[in-house]
Amino acid sequence: MRNWALIATLLAAFIAGPANADPIVIKFSHVVAENTPKGKMANRFKQLAEERLPGKVVVEVYPNSQLFGDNKVLEAMLLGDVQIGAPSLSKFSRYTPALDVFDLPFLFKDLAAVDRFQKSPEGQAMLDSMRDKGLIGLGYLHNGMKQMSAYSPLRVPADVKGKKFRVQTSDVLVAQFEILGGTAVKKPFSEVFTLLQTKAIDGTENPWSNTFSKKFFEVQPYITETDHGVLDYMVVTSAEFWLGLPDDIRAELSKAMDEAVAYGNEVALEQAVQDRQAIIDSGRSEVIALTPEERAQWVDAMRPVWAQFEAAIGKDMIEKALAANNE
Ligand code: LMR
Repeated sequence: MRNWALIATLLAAFIAGPANADPIVIKFSHVVAENTPKGKMANRFKQLAEERLPGKVVVEVYPNSQLFGDNKVLEAMLLGDVQIGAPSLSKFSRYTPALDVFDLPFLFKDLAAVDRFQKSPEGQAMLDSMRDKGLIGLGYLHNGMKQMSAYSPLRVPADVKGKKFRVQTSDVLVAQFEILGGTAVKKPFSEVFTLLQTKAIDGTENPWSNTFSKKFFEVQPYITETDHGVLDYMVVTSAEFWLGLPDDIRAELSKAMDEAVAYGNEVALEQAVQDRQAIIDSGRSEVIALTPEERAQWVDAMRPVWAQFEAAIGKDMIEKALAANNE
């Protein structure tokens, strides 16, 4: 009798097949709030991936630098401690100096031009340019054009003189403030609010969505609509993780990511308009519009930064990026 029971159990197990494998856990770490283009894109990716690969994949999203700041996330990815991130393009120069092209001041006239360049063969090639360093770019994601903010009004380039600004970890961004006679400190995003609140720094630069979601406008009484540069992202994963996935799962995740990024890019356009208006409505910060003459002064003062980085970025790359303004 006992033998029959054992045989029945073994037979049932045989028919059921191997025990269900544990789901693949994908940690997605980022530094911004959830009500931002990146925050919403990451949550959409989780929803799509888990809906389409039920039981096979679990996506854990960690916003607000909860898991890693951008200065650590790429190293952590190479160690396998996180699988997906989307640092801003300013944080990759250690891996691909050509990506510094996105930081050159007054290069792109608007986000549509940035988008065209990202979709060009040169833009697409940069997604794949870090494979030998263990990283694969899955796509570009927009945040938006940057504005400068400070404790005192910045109307003309001379207003920057003697002031200290927080920048991301990019030498181009340091040079951009130094050429105006200011100083720049590279600091993690998670520290910016406190640095501004305690007046350890005078100002910073950010797109509307970051200024709004992290409440920088509450501690920066003046925001100048310079639109002098772009803050966009590369969604990135580790080559070891990504290429080690079963083909069918990787294909499904790749589709989910493309859709999530397309959604995030739509959000970026709407969010910039909404967050700018919300800041104006708050009355906490004065938004300064530049006259064409004032704007021309900023362009003249900052454009010489290009020459400093031309050799590292490549003249052709700069020309290609510029051409996207006219398409
Ligand atoms: C910053 O450090 O200012 C940005 O890269 C933060 C972000 O992810 O938008």
